[in-house]
Amino acid sequence: MKSVLTIAEMKERARRRVPKMFFDYADSGAWTESTYRANEDDFAKIKLRQRVLVDMTGRTLESTMIGQKVSMPVALSPTGLTGMQHADGEMLAAQAAEEFGVPFTLSTMSICSIEDVASVTKKPFWFQLYVMKDREFVENLINRAKAAKCSALVLTLDLQILGQRHKDLRNGLSAPPKFTPKHIWQMATRPFWCLEMLQTQRRTFRNIAGHAKNVSDLSSLSAWTAEQFDPQLSWKDVAWIKEKWGGPLILKGVLDTEDARAAADTGADAIIVSNHGGRQLDGARSSISMLPRIVDAVGDKIEVHLDGGIRSGQDVLKAVALGAKGTYIGRPFLYGLGAGGKAGVTRTLEILQREMDITMALCGKKNISQINRDIIDA
Ligand code: FNR
Repeated sequence: MKSVLTIAEMKERARRRVPKMFFDYADSGAWTESTYRANEDDFAKIKLRQRVLVDMTGRTLESTMIGQKVSMPVALSPTGLTGMQHADGEMLAAQAAEEFGVPFTLSTMSICSIEDVASVTKKPFWFQLYVMKDREFVENLINRAKAAKCSALVLTLDLQILGQRHKDLRNGLSAPPKFTPKHIWQMATRPFWCLEMLQTQRRTFRNIAGHAKNVSDLSSLSAWTAEQFDPQLSWKDVAWIKEKWGGPLILKGVLDTEDARAAADTGADAIIVSNHGGRQLDGARSSISMLPRIVDAVGDKIEVHLDGGIRSGQDVLKAVALGAKGTYIGRPFLYGLGAGGKAGVTRTLEILQREMDITMALCGKKNISQINRDIIDA
């Protein structure tokens, strides 16, 4: 993995190793993918100030997110179906993150369960919650996350209904999934991926199967999932979840200043400025372009985090400079996982760390608390 120097190279390795339908699932956005592209492109438009003759010794990237220590301000985003990039993907990514000292967030829609991940990690991880119509199921999930000692609940707000991704529809990645000779061929041409998958028995959504009513096989599971997202979700539900959970709460998927103020009023610990990686509302603004306005709107009332489009350590620093206390990576860690399992995720984190450290030094700063709008050439 050491020969991989950039996230773009990691992506190409993953493309060669993961069957097309699952690679496309990670590498897709809603409709025209304009928001997906903007997330990345808008980072490139932000220019940094080069500084010289500043003492650059004794640098550190250590910081905190919701008061929890992190070796750098980067967490792993919750991503559904992670275990299809690599067998046992959620467990491997959680271990890589734990060893690196950054938070791992397990999605409700994971292949491996909360209990699977807890069984292979020593430190607490974070759990992402989708609020399903079946509130008994939701309460049960919250209790399972508590029992596993998860140290934060990430509540996703921007998926009351499912966005539409053309690549997934064309690839038959729908509910229920369609398997055609084309898919079997796609898998047959990725023998290492297939061998790994054959060695594991975890190919169902294990947070759901066996826990939700009348869900036994892949077909009933897909049908259940498709109709369970709640179009009536409201701020009252957020208050209900906050009370049931009782621990650190992060609200994910805020992209509007009015929503940000409402989120801050809930008393949650943080919001994530996010458009779901461009997978929901195509045509929405990029996360990084909305960040300064949202930071200004909420002031010190709540910690502000950001995800969407981070592809280098420079992007992380730009987000921190514009007011994000922490950032998250979705696709970059999925590419690492697809390319090389746990070692690939570790390499992804190393790449970001190295890029961040060099950039911070060349901007004349020594630690994360010194990073502010001063490093941006506005
Ligand atoms: C996601 N995302 C997501 N979010 C969430 O809250 N729950 C989930 O289950 C998923 N599933 C998911 C699957 C895949 C394949 C991707 C790419 C994304 C969104 C994710 O948490 C995050 O917001 C974005 O991935 C961030 O953008 P980047 O880093 O991928 O550009």
